[in-house]
This record gives sequence, C-alpha cells and structure tokens, in this order.
Amino acid sequence: MDLAEFIPNTQEAHAIAAHLPIGLSVFGVILVVAALLLRTERDVLRWAACAAYLLLALTAYIAVRTGEDSRSEVAGTVPKAIWDIIDDHESMAEYVWMFGIGTAALMAASAITKGTPRKLMGIATVVAALAAAVWVGLTGHHGGTLVYQHGIGIPFDQAVEWRINPPETDRAAPELSEKEKAIREEDLITIFDIDPAEAEKISYLRDVAPLMVEVCVECHKEGDLDSEYDMTTAANIIKGGEKYGASVIPGKPDESTLIKYVRGALLPQMPEDEMPLLREEVHMLRLWIYAGAKDDSQSVDE
Ligand code: HEC
Repeated sequence: MDLAEFIPNTQEAHAIAAHLPIGLSVFGVILVVAALLLRTERDVLRWAACAAYLLLALTAYIAVRTGEDSRSEVAGTVPKAIWDIIDDHESMAEYVWMFGIGTAALMAASAITKGTPRKLMGIATVVAALAAAVWVGLTGHHGGTLVYQHGIGIPFDQAVEWRINPPETDRAAPELSEKEKAIREEDLITIFDIDPAEAEKISYLRDVAPLMVEVCVECHKEGDLDSEYDMTTAANIIKGGEKYGASVIPGKPDESTLIKYVRGALLPQMPEDEMPLLREEVHMLRLWIYAGAKDDSQSVDE
C-alpha cells in the first residue's frame, strides 16, 4: 500500500477544506434558529451555535490558505477569463472568516445579556447567520463553476476526457458517407513523421491562431457558426462542433476530426470550397495537437 495515495494534494485539500464552511454555514442557520426558539439549560444551544461559527471561521481560513496554494499551482496555465473567476472567488472567500467571527460574537452577546438586548442580539444573529450562508453560497458557486464548468483542479487527463465526452452528452459519431468510405490514404494531404521536440515548439498564439483566423474563422465564429463550431479560441477549437463533438484529441492528431477534415478524410474538406491547406500547415497543426493542444494565449503575466 502506498501511503502517498492517502495524502491529498493541494487541490484536493482545498476541495475538502472548502466544503466545511459551506456545510457549517447551513447547519449554523438551523442551530441559531433552534437556539432562539428553544430554552436550554445554561444556553447550551447558543454556545453551540457560537462554537459552530468559530469553527466556520477557522475552516474558512484553512480553505483560503489551501486555495492560495492551488492558485499558484495553476498560475500561468489558465486563460484570463478564468483567472477573473478565480479572483472573484478568492476575494469573496477572504471575507468568510469575518462572517464567522461576527455571527459568533453576536450569539455570545445574546447569551450573556438579558431582556431586550438579548432579543435584539438574537435577531441580529439570525440576520448575520443568513448573510453568512448567502455569502458562503455565492463564494462556493464561483468555486464550483471553476471546477465543474472549467475543469480547474481536475487532473489534465480527466479534464480532456470531460471535454471530449461531457458527462451529460453521449453522442455517437455519425456514420461515414459512401463517398468518405471510398477515400484512400493516398488521396489525402500527405503527413510527415512527428518529432516530439519540434512539436513542443509550436505555439497556439504564434502559429495556430493566425492560420485559423486566416482560413477558418470566417465560417466558424459567432454570427456565422457553421456546424455550430467556433474556432476563435483554443478551448473552442478543441471542443468542436455539432457533428463530431471534440475536434481535437490532445496528443492524438490523427484521431482528431479537425485533421481528418483538413486532410480530406471527412467531407466537405476544410476550408470548404477553398484551396486546401499546405502540407506544412497540416503538419504544424498535427504537431500542436501532438504536444497537447496547449493554449498559450491570454495566460497570466506573472
Ligand atoms: C467557407 C466556410 C468554411 C470555412 C472557410 C471552413 N469551414 Fe469548417 N465547416 C464549414 C461547414 C459548412 C461545415 C459543416 C460541414 C458538414 O458537415 O456538412 C464545417 C464543419 C467543420 C468541422 C466539423 C465540426 C463538427 O460539427 O463536428 C470541422 C472540424 C471544421 N469545419 C474545421 C474547419 C477548419 C480547420 C477550417 C480551416 C482550415 C475550416 N473548417 C474552414 C464551413 C467552413
């Protein structure tokens, strides 16, 4: 047995730590309401609620710390738009501990006072507890968007797998037409052997994007979205269109439908009704896909 398997990595640790304040913020509301409605000996429920909110503050602190570590792990690998969501998520998360301490303080104040102050503090505690739950919920929502929509914090292989086979769709590849079945390898644009070192040097920003803009984007962009296929970002180029789903399988150029379309193995050959790509251009695209179809545009300037 390998013990290392049981030690969570930073991003797993953050996932675990982040769910604690979420649970506590919901549980806390119930506890606060119960504490105000039920009379208990020595205000046990009020002090329990107080403790729950101190615990919320502590777990929020741990979540922020593990989140900061995760943030440095993904730095430089995510597009600007996603970085903005991370920023929002982080700046909201930094306030969560204050909601915890504040709610705990109000609850304690209501436990040690009597009469009208006790009632007023009690009502203020409910308001604070609800505000904490909403704040934590919104913070968690941003975090969830990052993970479940954008695959941040999910191992690369699994993220690629998700993009190719999104969990909710399960689309079968269309049958080849008779014409497509009749195509022979020698009819296609010739391909060359791939040199991994050369593949690593291909840049989406410098090499791939300009070619796409020149020959593909005119038909594959918002407003003129042939086959529901947007080719204006690396992520969308990978994601593909309505017919085949993922057009690019990172690491596997010759299984990628994008390459099959430009070589003429799938019809109509792309770019449709225009001069086919040069062999060198097809080779460059294959190299890019071979090296993982990485997006080096818009990455953060550190
Ligand atoms: C003149 C317009 C036009 C241009 C330019 C063009 N395409 Fe297309 N593309 C289409 C149309 C139309 C379809 C739908 C074809 C069909 O299945 O009938 C399509 C479909 C595709 C698909 C299949 C998407 C799916 O639904 O799975 C891929 C991949 C693709 N194009 C890649 C490219 C690439 C790469 C380029 C640039 C080299 C390009 N296209 C340039 C019009 C164009």
